[in-house]
Amino acid sequence: MSGYFITFEGGEGAGKTSILHTINTKLKSLGYDVITTREPGGIQIAEQIRSIILNRQNTEMEERTEALLYAAARRQHLVEKVLPALEEGKIILCDRFIDSSLAYQGHARGLGMDEVFTMNQFAIKDCMPDLTLFFDIDPKKGLDRIAANKDRERNRLDFENIEFHNLVYEGYQILAERFPDRIRTIDADQTMEAVEKAAFDRIISYIK
Ligand code: TMP
Repeated sequence: MSGYFITFEGGEGAGKTSILHTINTKLKSLGYDVITTREPGGIQIAEQIRSIILNRQNTEMEERTEALLYAAARRQHLVEKVLPALEEGKIILCDRFIDSSLAYQGHARGLGMDEVFTMNQFAIKDCMPDLTLFFDIDPKKGLDRIAANKDRERNRLDFENIEFHNLVYEGYQILAERFPDRIRTIDADQTMEAVEKAAFDRIISYIK
């Protein structure tokens, strides 16, 4: 496959989503063939699954059900959108992928990272990102940022307590240590411009 599959990861309020869109615009202006997408979602079926997972009324959702739904959305998104774009040689900027499941469901929910990875293999069949940027911010600061942003939609996982978000953060740190070649840490506790520049430079040096 000739394209690049680049994923953006991190806890809540790390700024990755807006940075992804700015980088998309910049890469396009330089002539790169880029698409943006997100998980869970990115295509119709996966967006429908997203609304079930993140619906604030679904308080009874059990951890394994949650992990399976993320994996189901991932499978459909991969075959319908990511793999065809890779075949066409595009750069795919994807907001979250398997590392979110490993950090949130595997580590923070306590299902086990290895178990969640094995279950996800059924969905991804070894299709891992080429490059992953982990936007590193203290969870408390991230949550304060989203609390200050009145326009942001609050989903079911935003209402988890700080201990849960600390575990998510710990999960990402474990992953960054485990996959140092793929996962690059970006210090997200800087101005948006500085974070964006660090992320952009990483991507450019990778694709060049
Ligand atoms: P978003 O807020 O970045 O759009 O992501 C939606 C939420 O889903 C966010 O709280 C992280 C969570 N999530 C998981 O728990 N596991 C996953 O596999 C993915 C993709 C997202």
